[in-house]
Amino acid sequence: MKQLKLTGFIFFLLSLTESLTLPTKPQDVDHFSAIQKFIDENTASLALIAFAQYVQEVTFEEAEMLLQVMMEYKEKCLADTTLPECSKVANEAVQDMMCAMKGLSQRHNFSHCCSKIGFEKRLCFLYNKKANIGFLPPFPTLDPEEKCQAYKNDRKSFLNRHMYEVARRNPFVFAPVLLTVAARFEEVATACCEEQQKANCFGVKAVPITQYLKGLSSYQKNVCGAFLKFGPKVLNSINIAVLSKKFPKIGFTELTSLLEDVSSMYDGCCEGDVVRCIRDQSQVMNHICSKQDSISSKIKECCEKETPEREDCIVNTSKDDRPANLSLREPKFTDSENMCQERDSNPNDFFAEFIYEYSRRHVDLSTPELLRITQVYKDLLEDCCRRENPPDCYRRAEEKFNETTEKSLTMVQQECKRFQGLGKDGLQHQFLVDLVRWKPELTDEELLSLFTSFTAAGEKCCEAQEPEACLSKEVVVTCQGNHSQLQREESRKGIRKGRV
Ligand SMILES: *[C@@H]1O[C@H](CO)[C@@H](O)[C@H](O)[C@H]1NC(C)=O
Ligand SMILES: *[C@@H]1O[C@H](CO)[C@@H](O)[C@H](O)[C@H]1NC(C)=O
Ligand SMILES: *[C@@H]1O[C@H](CO)[C@@H](O)[C@H](O)[C@H]1NC(C)=O
Ligand SMILES: *[C@@H]1O[C@H](CO)[C@@H](O)[C@H](O)[C@H]1NC(C)=O
Ligand SMILES: *[C@@H]1O[C@H](CO)[C@@H](O)[C@H](O)[C@H]1NC(C)=O
Repeated sequence: MKQLKLTGFIFFLLSLTESLTLPTKPQDVDHFSAIQKFIDENTASLALIAFAQYVQEVTFEEAEMLLQVMMEYKEKCLADTTLPECSKVANEAVQDMMCAMKGLSQRHNFSHCCSKIGFEKRLCFLYNKKANIGFLPPFPTLDPEEKCQAYKNDRKSFLNRHMYEVARRNPFVFAPVLLTVAARFEEVATACCEEQQKANCFGVKAVPITQYLKGLSSYQKNVCGAFLKFGPKVLNSINIAVLSKKFPKIGFTELTSLLEDVSSMYDGCCEGDVVRCIRDQSQVMNHICSKQDSISSKIKECCEKETPEREDCIVNTSKDDRPANLSLREPKFTDSENMCQERDSNPNDFFAEFIYEYSRRHVDLSTPELLRITQVYKDLLEDCCRRENPPDCYRRAEEKFNETTEKSLTMVQQECKRFQGLGKDGLQHQFLVDLVRWKPELTDEELLSLFTSFTAAGEKCCEAQEPEACLSKEVVVTCQGNHSQLQREESRKGIRKGRV
């Protein structure tokens, strides 16, 4: 900690209440300062994202006023770090500013959050985010000439407005994604405003950006949804499967250590804490890049890039090759004589290792499929360990896994056939009926959100080469688990502890 000059860090910061581990190795300090510099340079954008995501109803004018307050706060705290209000962490400052602005909380109906404190307040703001954005007007489309005029007249305001409009319509997407979208949007604006055929240029160049945003937005919404509904354990299982597929070479101990960083990142990012999200994501990437040899051979180029390109690049790299000596079968979990004792001595680690071993050997299976197989294995052991001769019983495991996979494939194929046969409207109706029958306990809002993500995914994935893999990316675990109040409570406690 000695090497760090704290003066540069005050803003958004390391009030030591923030559960951050300060870096000790010199190269980590470099990354740490780089990320802090990045945060400082992007304060306005980050604040705008937080305002627009927490209270999507806020108007652009209100958001700009809040931004003004934020910048003044930053100046003040840079000038005098000892002021009591400067010991707040960023997220707290953002929420307090929204509460302090006259009339804002009444106008947009979030006063109940302002009367809470600490964890309850953060949770209240989180639950104020609305996945169903039907109450917002459609994304404003300007005539390209007007757009370019606006860009020329006031570049900053124009870009801020775009960021605001995107953020309030994607309240769960992580801040780094929105910053990337903004940077790429600016590139497009710069290029297209020089062109004769502006409309055409915007049309063509915007497509990959929209796809990038949509893909990550729906993934992050689903994963965070699973986290909030089912708790940190489910999140951990998802991440084990995802990381083991992407990095099949990684050892289990290394994975467990990486997983701690990843879980902490989801804690912050899912909660909507934009600064912590950026910092944690960078920490995860440092971890990965510093252990390249044992993690992946595909990320060398990415790791040479700077934040935030580095992060995007790693997220986007393809899976590493499966080590040649890694057989498809892992006898450890099916052939050993004392599976039941091993399970009982530490069930969490036991099943974590199972997901890891199965996922790195079956990198083409979707994440939900891997979680289903884990559940099948759990159930099987539950049954077998009560019997007289457990090993005889759980030796059938692999057969069961194969059955599960085949059943899912058949189901996807059937659903896609039905999707193509019924056409969009017909399918939507039929699908909604099925959904209500299948999950009667869901609230209207949950139903709608499930429904929308499914139909969107169907539209996209049934055309894809590998519908099953595509669907899994689009709809991660929406159908997993159990919607009981109990688990919600557990998940809240999980966030409270801040650790998974
Ligand atoms: C305002 O928020 C409260 C608490 O969440 C809710 O019960 C009420 O229906 C909301 N009112 C409006 C107009 O959205
Ligand atoms: C991700 O990779 C694909 C090709 O593998 C490329 O077309 C796309 O532009 C990349 N996206 C980003 C954000 O780098
Ligand atoms: C596979 O090879 C790697 C290195 O080449 C080695 O570390 C590992 O122990 C081997 N695994 C098995 C199951 O043989
Ligand atoms: C399960 O499927 C794999 C891959 O298709 C196959 O190699 C294996 O023999 C199957 N195992 C059983 C027990 O059916
Ligand atoms: C869901 O949770 C409830 C209450 O905890 C329990 O009774 C029920 O069996 C669970 N359902 C499933 C499918 O796990």
